[in-house]
Amino acid sequence: MAEYSSLTFATLSLAYLLLLGSSSAQLSTNFYSSSCPKLLSTVKPVVQSAINNEKRIGASILRLFFHDCFTNGCDASLLLDDTSSFTGEKGSNANKNSARGFEVIDKIKTAVENACPGVVSCADILTIAARDSVVILGGPNWNVKLGRRDARTASISVANNNIPAPTSSLSQLMSKFSAQGLSSKEMVALAGAHTIGQARCTSFRGHIYNDTDIDSSFAKTRQGSCPKASGSGDNNLAPLDLQTPTTFDNNYFKNLVNKKGLLHSDQQLFDGGSTDSQVRSYSNNPSTFFSDFAAAMIKMGDISPLTGSSGEIRKNCRKTN
Ligand code: HEM
Repeated sequence: MAEYSSLTFATLSLAYLLLLGSSSAQLSTNFYSSSCPKLLSTVKPVVQSAINNEKRIGASILRLFFHDCFTNGCDASLLLDDTSSFTGEKGSNANKNSARGFEVIDKIKTAVENACPGVVSCADILTIAARDSVVILGGPNWNVKLGRRDARTASISVANNNIPAPTSSLSQLMSKFSAQGLSSKEMVALAGAHTIGQARCTSFRGHIYNDTDIDSSFAKTRQGSCPKASGSGDNNLAPLDLQTPTTFDNNYFKNLVNKKGLLHSDQQLFDGGSTDSQVRSYSNNPSTFFSDFAAAMIKMGDISPLTGSSGEIRKNCRKTN
């Protein structure tokens, strides 16, 4: 009897482990190889021309992928416009007046629908476009896993709860990433995405006026275009990486070591805490940063995908079918 129950327990545990690993295990690099063989070569030129038009857009697309994956998994929920039955994620704290690049995703979707109608999800398109953006701006390349399906709903409250705020402390940042199954090491690698793109004054005002862990001449420069009074100049932009905001490199980490992080949350990664040594190492070693970033992007892309017969393949990324 004892033997029987321990055997049953072992079988159940195995089944449970298989179940746990099953959703991301269904993603694969060759998912569309017969149903849409030209997928990758259809997406990249659209991303390339969008970046040729405006270099910042690559950063904006990369951020869309992060915000989508942190809100109930990488399921393109972020791309849905508001409807009468739900309020979308575009109006959440982190996305409102901030998330951009949706028109580029629409353009890619149109091109992909022309090549292979009804086959490729918006969630996978976003995954590919984020990778292509990083590559085009000079960052690492990696093979994307595909096979995600699209959500039929969105959640503004989950977006508000899960996406970290720029006012976060190191421990708050760690807990938001840990809630998504990402380690603090993966978090620091992923935060290196702030080597590209821009932030609004409202996101960094507190850091440049109130914090002491900031280079004083850098703070002064940033204050020049971000007034102290909240409500004035809120949307004025500054580069997240003051040196090369349209090149994907390791300057973000060099800035942190020099106390020139733009966001409070950026500087938290190098502020005398447990992540200092990793930041210093990336600041000296771009190739380690590149390989850790690529691995962490793959891991982030594995967050709770819809696979099999869950969700749908949307026809228009802004609307459920
Ligand atoms: C560690 C926690 C993070 C926090 C607190 C954070 C916060 C922010 C904030 C506040 C902005 C500026 C938004 C604005 O002012 O409009 C921003 C921009 C950006 N974030 Fe993050 N972020 C984090 C991690 C990440 C990750 C993991 C990625 C991608 C892998 C990412 C990619 C970006 C990019 C590329 C931009 C620039 C977007 C553009 O120029 O349109 N961030 N982030």
